[in-house]
Amino acid sequence: MSTLLHIDSSVRAITNPNPNHNSISKNIALRFIDTWRETCPTDEYIYRDVGVNPPAFFTQDWIGAVFTPEQKRTPAQHDILALSDRLIAEVAKADIIVISTPMYNYGMPAQLKSWFDQVVRINKTFDFDLARGDFPLQPLLSGKTLVTITSSGEFGFETGGIRESASHLQPHLRTLSKYLGVETIYEIAAEYQEFGDERHRTSVSNALSRAEKLAAELAVNALTASPEPEAINA
Ligand SMILES: Cc1cc2nc3c(=O)[nH]c(=O)nc-3n(C[C@H](O)[C@H](O)[C@H](O)COP(=O)(O)O)c2cc1C
Repeated sequence: MSTLLHIDSSVRAITNPNPNHNSISKNIALRFIDTWRETCPTDEYIYRDVGVNPPAFFTQDWIGAVFTPEQKRTPAQHDILALSDRLIAEVAKADIIVISTPMYNYGMPAQLKSWFDQVVRINKTFDFDLARGDFPLQPLLSGKTLVTITSSGEFGFETGGIRESASHLQPHLRTLSKYLGVETIYEIAAEYQEFGDERHRTSVSNALSRAEKLAAELAVNALTASPEPEAINA
């Protein structure tokens, strides 16, 4: 049995009175989750919508608590870290993590960044040792698979694309994924939302199909514990 952690981060809902306002990233993620659960209905499933319920921003007191050895923390410091502890426990438990995210201002939503800020924490998800030279940070978690599902209004953020230099969403997710213990990443991207044309419809339709196919493959692999399919980098 696997544990699936699902993080959504659009501020938009999955369904709205006007379907044009439905979150694209959340709906693609939902397709992935529904397909996974058809194959693995008994897997543990943990869901957070950080777009609608954002984790608190960290503070100077949060940093003070993090750098205080655990046994010396005051009750107030334990309280400050309670949310971070809970979110980290969810990541630690997960075998597969699905993160859906819109592109806002060429990067991730502040709400999702806040989730990462609560989760990427010294002596919990990474440790730090200057004896390692120029790369003192080392992840403490390992063996996880990450599926990122992104939606953008514009297009061409891939390597060689016309907006490669403005691509701060997927590269950031890739960099941070290391500190979640991720070893394999699959990326699904829907683009062109702001154009509302055939390219957009095709892009969303392809992303939904890819989500369904990938979920079916990964779920079967999780059931049989056989090697995973080749990573898809869209
Ligand atoms: C505040 C805001 C900022 C956005 N910034 C960008 C951007 O920098 N680049 C882009 O391609 N699309 C941008 N968009 C468009 C969204 O990425 C697009 O609408 C996407 O589908 C939103 O995800 P969702 O459908 O899951 O809510 C922005 C949308 C909003 C609301």
